[in-house]
Amino acid sequence: MRDFKRKIENKKVIVGVLGLGYVGLPLAREFASAGLNVIGFDIDQQKVRILNSGRSIIKHVPHTQIRQMVKSGLFHATTDMAGLKKADAILICVPTPLTENRDPDMRFVVSSTKTIAKYLRPGQLIVLESTTYPGTTREVMVPILESSGLKAGKDFHLAYSPEREDPGNKDFSTKTIAKVVGGLTKKCCKMACELYETAIVRTVTVSSLEAAEASKILENVYRCVNIAMVNELKIVFDRMGIDIWEVIHAASTKPFGFKAFYPGPGLGGHCIPIDPFYLTWRARQYGMPTRFIELAGEINTSMPHYVITKTIEALNEHKKSLKGSKVLVLGLAYKKDIDDLRESPSIELIELLRKKGAKVDYNDPYIPKTHKQRQHNLKMTSRKLSAKMLAGYDVVLISTDHSDYDYDWIVKNAKLVVDARNATASVRRAGKKVIKA
Ligand SMILES: NC(=O)c1ccc[n+]([C@@H]2O[C@H](COP(=O)([O-])OP(=O)(O)OC[C@H]3O[C@@H](n4cnc5c(N)ncnc54)[C@H](O)[C@@H]3O)[C@@H](O)[C@H]2O)c1
Repeated sequence: MRDFKRKIENKKVIVGVLGLGYVGLPLAREFASAGLNVIGFDIDQQKVRILNSGRSIIKHVPHTQIRQMVKSGLFHATTDMAGLKKADAILICVPTPLTENRDPDMRFVVSSTKTIAKYLRPGQLIVLESTTYPGTTREVMVPILESSGLKAGKDFHLAYSPEREDPGNKDFSTKTIAKVVGGLTKKCCKMACELYETAIVRTVTVSSLEAAEASKILENVYRCVNIAMVNELKIVFDRMGIDIWEVIHAASTKPFGFKAFYPGPGLGGHCIPIDPFYLTWRARQYGMPTRFIELAGEINTSMPHYVITKTIEALNEHKKSLKGSKVLVLGLAYKKDIDDLRESPSIELIELLRKKGAKVDYNDPYIPKTHKQRQHNLKMTSRKLSAKMLAGYDVVLISTDHSDYDYDWIVKNAKLVVDARNATASVRRAGKKVIKA
């Protein structure tokens, strides 16, 4: 262990990051910026090729940063997993989605752990960062890693430290967000903290792997439930003629006891719509229901239908039916200013609109065309915005409030706007042209 610390101090430690996506890449960047050698491992050859050529694969990680990392010699990416042997620490950032039955899909965690087991050597530190249910690291990973013949907590070290990445957040980055760490043993926890503290502002230790796993789930359940609450209140207040955004703004002026959450067209992204159901699945094994999560899920998944109803009503006021209408969806990403469309409510909106007979196009400055996803294949390309083209649609539906959009101009040129994000709040003289949804 003293060797490990000395290696870190002398910047001789080699960090392996397994999975170079939205989480793994910024993490690799932080360690490389701290002067450590980082090897990025991924099964996606194209990603590896792009990164090694000094280009980024994520909008909010600029090309210049990747170029600098590669040029400095402190980072390279590879699909050759034999290189895992060289790493002193391996941080696992692979996907943890849901299966079609909404159960945890552990394929990526299992396969990456099997790969590590193949090359595991004494003294290595393995840390799982992927979001998952409490019990994963101990129950899923330990048996696989120990199939190597090495003993966890003795021959090699194991910890769990959840990633808290918030893509596009201008106030916090991977480096400045404290990291929760739980170890299989105290020594495992200490080693993981020593490593993270070279690159990340602060670590917060908890007593077990399970407490660390549960802390991440709590964070995401908290968001999911609170978003569901404001989504429900949005519908209730709308019926009363009250604007939910105005109400939230007023309530936010209370300096204690209130944290603002905002309604929207539904949940999106890799985390909030998915992670709470990891806990639901686990709780079932203990004979426990997770009623808050189920109810929040029910409300949040109904939101795209609410937006469609508001769109139908808005068109109705203009003596038009949705069937046959031309609809432009603005924003495909699941939240503003990012290029990630995983689980985006915009996709669901487009599918629902098409099902009802609307002719749908989209514009998103960060997503020039759609790619095939696990459950969707829209096969669409982003339409270039112009005053003339906006005026050609029966309704413009704002689904993602990217900062780059000029909302005054959009409202001025569109015939009718349905705004699911309150993006047009500051547009003057919007009048009856804008319907909030
Ligand atoms: N995206 C976020 O904002 C965010 C935030 C916090 C936590 N998380 C969690 O972090 C984890 C990773 O999410 P992400 O958004 O970075 O996913 P991602 O899909 O962007 O990246 C995952 C990467 O892992 C690679 N991969 C898959 N299997 C592999 C294997 N066996 N070996 C090596 N590489 C493999 C994929 O090719 C991909 O490049 C998930 O558990 C997620 O819930 C994500």
